[in-house]
Amino acid sequence: MKFPVFQIFLTGFLLFLLTSCSPKKSVSVGLSDWKFKTGDDMEWSDPSFNDSDWENIKVEHTWDEYGYSDYDGYAWYRISFVLPSSLKEKSAYQGDLIIELGKVDDIDQTYLNGVLIGQNGETLDLSDTAGLRFEQIPGGWAKFRIYNLSTDDKRIKWDQENVIAVRVWDRGGLGGIYDAHPVIRMEGLSDYVQLDINSTSFSIQNQTNFNKVIRLVNSSDDFSFEGVLSVSLMDRFTNDKIFKEKLKIKLEPNSEKEQLISFQTEPGRNCSITYSYTEIKSGEKIIFTESLPYILTPPVPDKARINGPVVYGARPGHPFLYKIPVSGEKPITYSASGLPAGLNLDSKTGIITGKAMKKGIYKALLKAENKHGINEKEFTIKIGKKITITPPMGWNSWNCWGLSVSDEKIRSSADEMIRSGLADHGFSYINIDDGWESAERLPNGKITGNEKFPDFPALSDYVHSLGLKLGIYSSPGPLTCGGYLGSYRHEFMDAKTWSEWGVDYLKYDWCSYGEIAKNRSLPELKKPYFLMRKALDGVNRDIVYSLCQYGMGNVWEWGNEVGAELWRTTGDITDTWSSLKGIGFRQAVVAPFAGPGSWNDPDMLVLGRVGWSDNLHPTRLTPDEQYTHISLWALLAAPLLLGNDMAKLDDFTLSLLTNDEVLAVNQDPLGRQANRVYDENDIQYWLKELADGSLALGIFNLNEGVKNARLNISDLVLNGTYAIRDLWRQKDLGRFNDGMDVTLPGHGVLLVKLSEVK
Ligand code: GLA
Repeated sequence: MKFPVFQIFLTGFLLFLLTSCSPKKSVSVGLSDWKFKTGDDMEWSDPSFNDSDWENIKVEHTWDEYGYSDYDGYAWYRISFVLPSSLKEKSAYQGDLIIELGKVDDIDQTYLNGVLIGQNGETLDLSDTAGLRFEQIPGGWAKFRIYNLSTDDKRIKWDQENVIAVRVWDRGGLGGIYDAHPVIRMEGLSDYVQLDINSTSFSIQNQTNFNKVIRLVNSSDDFSFEGVLSVSLMDRFTNDKIFKEKLKIKLEPNSEKEQLISFQTEPGRNCSITYSYTEIKSGEKIIFTESLPYILTPPVPDKARINGPVVYGARPGHPFLYKIPVSGEKPITYSASGLPAGLNLDSKTGIITGKAMKKGIYKALLKAENKHGINEKEFTIKIGKKITITPPMGWNSWNCWGLSVSDEKIRSSADEMIRSGLADHGFSYINIDDGWESAERLPNGKITGNEKFPDFPALSDYVHSLGLKLGIYSSPGPLTCGGYLGSYRHEFMDAKTWSEWGVDYLKYDWCSYGEIAKNRSLPELKKPYFLMRKALDGVNRDIVYSLCQYGMGNVWEWGNEVGAELWRTTGDITDTWSSLKGIGFRQAVVAPFAGPGSWNDPDMLVLGRVGWSDNLHPTRLTPDEQYTHISLWALLAAPLLLGNDMAKLDDFTLSLLTNDEVLAVNQDPLGRQANRVYDENDIQYWLKELADGSLALGIFNLNEGVKNARLNISDLVLNGTYAIRDLWRQKDLGRFNDGMDVTLPGHGVLLVKLSEVK
């Protein structure tokens, strides 16, 4: 069979065709109309209490949305309902009765017919201010409150009136039950069986062959299940069902089954995949949908190819370190001519080290050779004041490990940077974010690493031996955002220490400096950053200076003045479309302030496995949103700092990060940031001028669904004929003088280069 072909390899199970199966209606009682009263009285838990004069309230949102804005303290919710015994009789599994309440901000005690059946949060004593912290609820206040009762529990009154009363305590901000569609139901399939599609990612060969292992986990001690796993693929553009396959799977109590899913599609086909498991006896179903991570980047050729920027800056007399990024089959032999005096290239590793003493612009010629051929590239080295002449590319520990970062994780991330081949495309910084600092300074005031970072000089030697650079993090305040030691009143000492350790990059995060600054005036905002600049100027190393203060006081207008190479323009990013959209598409205003050595920083990348802790998950961005992420960051000339678990880089994520034509837009030596030149019906054009006179253009579809758009050359305020090249596919689309029609996936992008044909 030609495309599309779909196969599921059965491991010990028969292929099974699902005959029609009539699912039983789910057995539940909805709880929508609640009574509400602020205050506190334990009598309100009593089922016989008369609440008829209480307010009626819904629980989809916090009480603030229903007229109790900013109310803090105790309040009660009550609801009465009849619980029909048919509920348990109809239940397929005869398990527990489940009460699903929703989320509660902050703490709840839940009573059924006057008896406490569940509580989340340690104490409800209003006077105990220290004890009342949402952290005491595992998962925080945003935890769904779910309480189980056995069906023969005496507190349940079958076929009679029952009363649930919820005592809530809230402090600060919003309060009450929210995000809730409360129900009482019998345990169902999803309480026992989990369909895990996220533990592994697709491995993808030749853009066409997809393989992934999914897991079915039965956590019930008592029940076994016989069901049908169904996997179907649908084309997002045509809505064509490409394939559907089903197989029978039996799950014994407390067991799990791994299932290899394997199929082929045409390259670049944009599809959604639906996985479901339907239990045969009850007809109950678990269902998940995800988008197929389709690869557009063509395979990287075997022949040696020099990637990375065409220009690089370093300061005179400072240690120089640059690993020439070369893709292609190893081994590769490197050579160079025209390097400034004092620099040496290791012909086996491609790492240039030494010290260039004399200011100047040096036009070097780099050469890389492997068994498939030779590649040459002109490379300008500017020895002078400016460093990071093109946006920094690398990795930072925050979006992945959060405060659980360690020496070991830094070393292994550096190893993976090399092993994965990302260093061959220009990624070079390995940056430690918050969480490395000791609890106290040494008696002489010097800062050291905590128990997770026993030896910084050894760590930086290791990272440097790979040709990579090491970054660190601190705050101008006494404490960092994570509560670790900051550099307040130790700025000069810390800069010197970092320099001795071999640090190449500093992220300097405002955090607790808010308590030191007299106010938020511009001089107060600039002051700590001037100070650290002075400290960094006193050391004999190039240390990239990255400001992090979330954009306060329009930092883009003065980041340059305080001597920074880059500055965060926004709050923290997270791996959702609303965060990506809210940050990325608001960067037009800062565009004029970007240029070689001066970069706006819309925060780090949220691709691959992230989690801000030891608990990682695959990015919640869809593949199209991820194309948008990289395309936009490339156009914005933003730093490209990964924030994922480097050991678990999947094929799709790698393909996003190794497209050298897309990366070249980011690393373009002109250093312009794209500007928004068109914005209608949630279709936006972002246009970036490139050094060779051509233009990079991103056409973004911010709508959820597929959209057709017409790219009019005149909308770009251009005349003439343009050769248009699709950068993700690395394919010429033709010559156009009026425009061309494009079809854009939801939240997706077409990234092109326009070169005028004279
Ligand atoms: C702030 C920064 C983040 C990260 C954390 C560390 O929130 O914006 O990027 O550095 O602090 O605590």
